[in-house]
Amino acid sequence: MDASPPSETDIAGRGEARPAVPLARGLSAKLLMLTVVFVMFAEVLIFVPSIANFRIRWLEERLATAAAVSIVLIANDAGSTPENLQKDVLMAIGAKAIAVRDEEGVSRLVAVSDMPQAVDEHINLEQTGRLRSVASALDTLAFGGKRMLRIYGHVGDSDKVFELIMPDWRLRNAMLVYSRNVALVSLLISVFTALLVYTAINRIMILPIRAMTGAMLAFSRAPEEPASIIEPEPRSDEIGVAERELAAMQTTLQRVLGERRHLADLGLAVSKINHDMRNMLSSAQLLSDRLHSIKDPAVQSLAPKLVRTLDRAVAYSSGVLAYGRTQEPAPARRRLKLHQLVEEVREAVGAEASGVDFVNAVEDGFEIDADAEQLFRVLANLARNAVQAMAGDTEEAIVRRLTLSAERKGSVSRIIVADTGPGLPPKARENLFAAFRGSARSGGTGLGLAIAHELVRAHGGQLELVESVGGRTVFSVSIPDQPVSIEQARGALRRPA
Ligand SMILES: Nc1ncnc2c1ncn2[C@@H]1O[C@H](COP(=O)(O)OP(=O)(O)OP(=O)(O)O)[C@@H](O)[C@H]1O
Ligand SMILES: [Mg+2]
Repeated sequence: MDASPPSETDIAGRGEARPAVPLARGLSAKLLMLTVVFVMFAEVLIFVPSIANFRIRWLEERLATAAAVSIVLIANDAGSTPENLQKDVLMAIGAKAIAVRDEEGVSRLVAVSDMPQAVDEHINLEQTGRLRSVASALDTLAFGGKRMLRIYGHVGDSDKVFELIMPDWRLRNAMLVYSRNVALVSLLISVFTALLVYTAINRIMILPIRAMTGAMLAFSRAPEEPASIIEPEPRSDEIGVAERELAAMQTTLQRVLGERRHLADLGLAVSKINHDMRNMLSSAQLLSDRLHSIKDPAVQSLAPKLVRTLDRAVAYSSGVLAYGRTQEPAPARRRLKLHQLVEEVREAVGAEASGVDFVNAVEDGFEIDADAEQLFRVLANLARNAVQAMAGDTEEAIVRRLTLSAERKGSVSRIIVADTGPGLPPKARENLFAAFRGSARSGGTGLGLAIAHELVRAHGGQLELVESVGGRTVFSVSIPDQPVSIEQARGALRRPA
């Protein structure tokens, strides 16, 4: 076994130390930004109706003032109001003209100074729908400033309708000042709220999350250090649960890492011992061969047993060493003639010599998409196991037949290896495909099925024990064809046949 003890960082799967998240890109900064943006957005939603209200109130105030002035002027017998007084009144209100219409519909100009040619907008203060006033307010803000307005409506309980002609620049200026103030207040409120939310969430969530991130990074740097396990806070919320779970996971991982380190050390020791042992056994094997030349009958009867035992021991050592050392290469897949491959397996396992009838039931033209060498090893392992199991049967009359057949379902090839042997012993069945554990045969390493399983899996296929009773044991090897990319398939279609 060529196992050098893996370093802790390898085991944790993290070679390089990763830095903690910088503050500006961390959760805190994102949270702060988001809060400011959202509060500002909320303020805009509040601002739109409030600027419309502001405009209506401003206009109502003007009209009310104009109404009060008109009543006084009418009472003092209008028509003879001196022009100077009219101008003063109009300037104070910011209007060009004031008129009154009585209940009979008779209109009367109360005060006037350079009457404008045309009026751009008529505003009935008694019909101000919400949407309309919002639209008008935004319109005034965006495009106003040079328009002439006519404002009219009842004032208070008076049955007269008062009218006012005025330019809109004063209104717009007032609205701009109002908007600026609202914007400033909004900014203050949003920054203040953001700071409050930030401080609260920072304390409750971000700091513990940063602590957890830090603990994870510290753990990945030094997983064997007991101090790098996070100390969970006594909280009952999700963060508390996460911290406790993280601590539990780190504790388990630390223990597992410790165990793996011990196992790796042990594996290294076993591999060294095994290596030396194989060399010693090989020398003993060489010496034992010379026993054949000694004529002593006792030696002659014992020598073959000794040689066989040594052979088995050497094979065992070599097998273990090979298993520890090999990292199977990825299968080099080709289309193979399965019938021919099975014939090679027949020769390799020497079935006939053990009195086993080897039946190659694979059709002549059957093709399979696999790595030739690896598939040979899989089938040879399965066939050898079957031959060994049947050769162990002592009863002469028992049928000893090993049949290899194959079928194809769609893109999956399935090879069936069936024998008429005694079936798998319980120990082999319980540890099916587990290396070193499944052998129920003296001299067996328990590697054959494990390796075969691994090789079939590398092909994306499956090795299964279909059934195993006395007289019938069936293994199946399913191997799907390599997936073909659409481009390849199209290319193949386009190519002339
Ligand atoms: N066809 C079979 N019939 C009966 N028993 C089987 C059959 N195939 C496998 N076994 C049992 O399963 C065990 C495990 O087989 P596996 O090939 O993994 O190991 P092994 O044959 O003991 O050793 P190795 O193949 O490594 O030399 C065998 O020892 C044998 O008892
Ligand atoms: Mg075997």
